Amino acid sequence: MKGIILAGGAGTRLYPLTIVTSKQLLPVYDKPMIFYPLSTLMLASIREILIISTPEDTPRIEELLGDGSKFGVELSYAVQAKPEGLAQAFTIGRDFIGDDACAMVLGDNIFYGNGLNHKLMDAREDAENGKATIFGYYVEDPKRFGIMEFEKGEAGERSVKVISVEEKPKQPKSNYAIVGLYFYPKGVSDMADKVTPSARGELEITTLNDMYLQQGILNAQLLGRGYTWMDAGTFDSLQKATDFVSMIEQYQGMTISSPEEIAYHMGWIDDEMLAKSVKRYGKSPYGERLKAVLEGKVII
Ligand code: DAU
Repeated sequence: MKGIILAGGAGTRLYPLTIVTSKQLLPVYDKPMIFYPLSTLMLASIREILIISTPEDTPRIEELLGDGSKFGVELSYAVQAKPEGLAQAFTIGRDFIGDDACAMVLGDNIFYGNGLNHKLMDAREDAENGKATIFGYYVEDPKRFGIMEFEKGEAGERSVKVISVEEKPKQPKSNYAIVGLYFYPKGVSDMADKVTPSARGELEITTLNDMYLQQGILNAQLLGRGYTWMDAGTFDSLQKATDFVSMIEQYQGMTISSPEEIAYHMGWIDDEMLAKSVKRYGKSPYGERLKAVLEGKVII
């Protein structure tokens, strides 16, 4: 199973913040934004990850994350020359994906919730068995997102039956946004080849999802009340994301979405490797909390 973080785009909605830096390197409380989607893929036990960004930002992101060894994963990088649409990630990533199933997360999407790893592992298993998965999350402003219409399932069911998917519909058929996290079976690059530009000129992920729906191999999982999803791409949502993370971390005294901590708990890095990160981060709260993990004070 492979994973892609799509971390490009012009970031103009955050100007002047993003004139000389990447949106995905901006802070969300105590860590760079890209740590969150990286953690999400790691929670699905994905260790081969391709990061796609702009020609200017890719080297900056690489400077921060390197080859991934400090997180116990293998990172590689590719450039998207122009932001021509989310589905393009799978044609850019064709060689990287090879004959594997592949997940993609958007670089500004933040996920949090107890048991998220189980949902992700279910989606992973389904992708490895030939089915795609999208995730639905209740929103008050459905015209701004990809939207899924679905049949209400039995409580406790693993997935719901999707009826339709639409990108930013004028008359939304539901209030459930399709969040920026997708799992696809092998062959997704060939499928993405068939996506043609939408009216707004983009290779839409929703068109790709619709192809899986038409073939009868699109699952959807709902992220209910126990979960939080945020896309941190505007000033307001970035501020809200920062407030949210600071509140959780200060109440719990624990870090959320720390790739080093996830790698350590997964057994992908050892004490020595974690100690190096603790040293690198010095006296920052992020470093102090990682130190508590190294000292065995944080168990889960
Ligand atoms: O956040 C979830 C939503 O993301 C979904 O509900 C929509 O179906 C999906 O189309 C997308 O909508 P957005 O309007 O948020 O897409 P946006 O163009 O803002 O791009 C999302 C992120 O991906 C953003 O951080 C920029 C980056 N991006 C975007 C494009 C079009 C790229 O890296 N490359 C691209 O070509």
